[in-house]
Amino acid sequence: MKIAFLGAGKMARALAGGLVRAGVVAAGDITCSSRSMESSRSFVDFVPGARWIGENAELFRTADVVILALKPQHMATALPQLRDASAGRLILSLAAGVPLVRLADWFAPSARLVRAMPNTPMQIGLGASVYAPGRTATSADLALVESILASAGKAWRVDEAQIDTITALSGSGPAYVFHFLDALVRGASALGLDENLARELSLQTVLGSATLAARSHLAPMELAAQVKSPGGTTLAGCAVLEENDALNQLMARCLAAAKARAQEMARES
Ligand SMILES: NC(=O)c1ccc[n+]([C@@H]2O[C@H](COP(=O)([O-])OP(=O)(O)OC[C@H]3O[C@@H](n4cnc5c(N)ncnc54)[C@H](OP(=O)(O)O)[C@@H]3O)[C@@H](O)[C@H]2O)c1
Repeated sequence: MKIAFLGAGKMARALAGGLVRAGVVAAGDITCSSRSMESSRSFVDFVPGARWIGENAELFRTADVVILALKPQHMATALPQLRDASAGRLILSLAAGVPLVRLADWFAPSARLVRAMPNTPMQIGLGASVYAPGRTATSADLALVESILASAGKAWRVDEAQIDTITALSGSGPAYVFHFLDALVRGASALGLDENLARELSLQTVLGSATLAARSHLAPMELAAQVKSPGGTTLAGCAVLEENDALNQLMARCLAAAKARAQEMARES
């Protein structure tokens, strides 16, 4: 099976690395394109054996599966020229905010389309991805898409109607966690802790807590309750997060703003 990446940036590199590590395809069966050979250098270095193809139509014609890994704002110029070359291909789009109906406008009616939403922890094989099938995608296509996305993390099938919310949650989510980490470091530094030590402790706390939650059968608030002894320090700290429902309200607003932007992007695409 030949897999082609239209776009050779961060997400393409992450997924191609996962595909080779998981043995889904050999590096020699992977191709990519970008606007210049030079800009695909880090892709080809990261996946030794993969090839850059300068011509997007040729990239399509020589692949069984094409993964769209270019920015949404570049799609309207790049994709309509590939209509003929897309005939009969399975095309998996990673683009945020570009609905299946828009992709269908650009490609041949016989192209089988699937829309995915991955996230950046894919770079280390811990991605959280979803995929939504277009009308003509077959069950074999979906099994293949699931194995492609799961090669770099976990993957779930969803209805496209859920993708804007999922974009706000897991697509943008890594940045929320990085903000939270940064806030922990700032807060501890302000209380006099060495910044490097604060960073190490914050990182290990978030990593350890996420891993504990992933391995536990308990819900997050049940795990939190285990740490909150009556009259203790954790209870005092959490009271600030819970005051006026502060953290819940903040995250609800954060997710709603990201979802609204995803919906806006879909309208603009
Ligand atoms: N990063 C995230 O957190 C994230 C999360 C979920 C989904 N996504 C989606 O994943 C996709 C890729 O994102 P990314 O962060 O990997 O982007 P990126 O690092 O900016 O890479 C984009 C790639 O597209 C190439 N490209 C642009 N126009 C092209 C054209 N006409 N023909 C061929 N290649 C072209 C670029 O080549 P040049 O360098 O030569 O211009 C570059 O290799 C986006 O659609 C994004 O919405 C990203």
